[in-house]
Amino acid sequence: MHTATQERIIRPARNVLGSLRLPGDKSISHRYGMLAAFAKGTSRFTNFSTGADCASTLACMEALGAKIVRREDGGVEVTGVAGRVTPTAEPLDCGNSGSTMRMMSGLLAAQEGRFTLIGDASLSRRPMERIRRPLEQMGARLALTEGHAPITVEGAQLKAIDYTTPVPSAQVKTCVLLAGLQTEGTTTVQEAVRTRDHSELALRAFGATIERTADSVSIRGPQALHAIEAAVPGDISSAAFFLCAAALFPGSSLVLDALGMNPTRAALLDVMATLGARLAVLNLEEKHAELVGTVQISAPTAGLGTAKIDGALAAQLIDELPVLAAIGPYTQGGIRIRDAKELRVKESDRIALVVKNLRAMGAEVVEFEDGLDVPGGQALHGATIDAGGDHRIAMAFSVAALRATGETLIQGAESAAISFPEFFDLLDQVADR
Ligand code: S3P
Repeated sequence: MHTATQERIIRPARNVLGSLRLPGDKSISHRYGMLAAFAKGTSRFTNFSTGADCASTLACMEALGAKIVRREDGGVEVTGVAGRVTPTAEPLDCGNSGSTMRMMSGLLAAQEGRFTLIGDASLSRRPMERIRRPLEQMGARLALTEGHAPITVEGAQLKAIDYTTPVPSAQVKTCVLLAGLQTEGTTTVQEAVRTRDHSELALRAFGATIERTADSVSIRGPQALHAIEAAVPGDISSAAFFLCAAALFPGSSLVLDALGMNPTRAALLDVMATLGARLAVLNLEEKHAELVGTVQISAPTAGLGTAKIDGALAAQLIDELPVLAAIGPYTQGGIRIRDAKELRVKESDRIALVVKNLRAMGAEVVEFEDGLDVPGGQALHGATIDAGGDHRIAMAFSVAALRATGETLIQGAESAAISFPEFFDLLDQVADR
């Protein structure tokens, strides 16, 4: 699908005030959608992600035989294929979504048939060797195109493996677990840094047995999944833009309801607290083992402090780093990011684009191969921002623009819809001008 490039003007704000309920978490929606489509029976979801990425997952699973119904109230019903997909002659289009491509490859590697997975220009540049290696160890046959998509998966009967991920990646972990789900014996994934654990929690919710230690996950296959009903928690990575926006204005007050607070995703709240933001978490509850709560944030009157993000924290915060870097100039002590080389192989080279766009707004910034230093105490001016087709860059610089002087033009604003189509409307709702 071709979408025309859109521009969006962001004017400075005086404050950020209000209360929001955000659409469902992208990572959880991918998993619920994919597992429901593979399970037996009809699953029902409310607050399913409205992003184009999760629509790609649903469309691929529909092409493989699942039945998808979008209800008028926004709910999604998925009737699964009970463990056996139907191969299609048409390629499966994963759009911009790395999660769809990597996780679905694992699911399909253990199925009968031949499947071709394609993606847009950005996804076709992203590294796929990381899934080929473990899947081939399991006996799957995968053909890549110079290490990238298009991918052809030739389904086979697999053997269980014990795999240590060289780069922390929840997508690779999930890919192996979904192959392991269908494979005789115990498949184990070991990871040095614990990545988001939505797959483990979702697999359990759909009836699978999974074993976990501090640094490993094991699944004994084959196992069948059953349908569930679930409300998807609000997306904390989408909330990051609003939390950072609120943190910029002394006197701000923002409430985010029914937000996903899974500990493997909530490191941002610690960083916000380190920066001096005042936070409260209320009404914590568990839904299918996912923590959900209400978050209140207000900015420190003395301004934001400083933060250094490296090691395991950099991996856990990988999706939130662009917006943290983008507010760096407005802190007192700056934001320093290291050990985040993975940012270079996301939907764009996020280090290069953050550096380029911060400089366009007049900031001083130092680029490193695995991160950047954004000194604090800098004033920014409005500029033309190149989102580079990357949703998180478009949104991160819309937040930076709220405290700049003059207007900022976001080029490629339509990319926000990859994860968060409501972003600009909600930003208008809470930005006090
Ligand atoms: C995701 C995992 C992360 C993240 C991506 C979503 C997931 O990628 O950056 O936005 O849902 O599993 P990696 O697993 O490649 O680190």
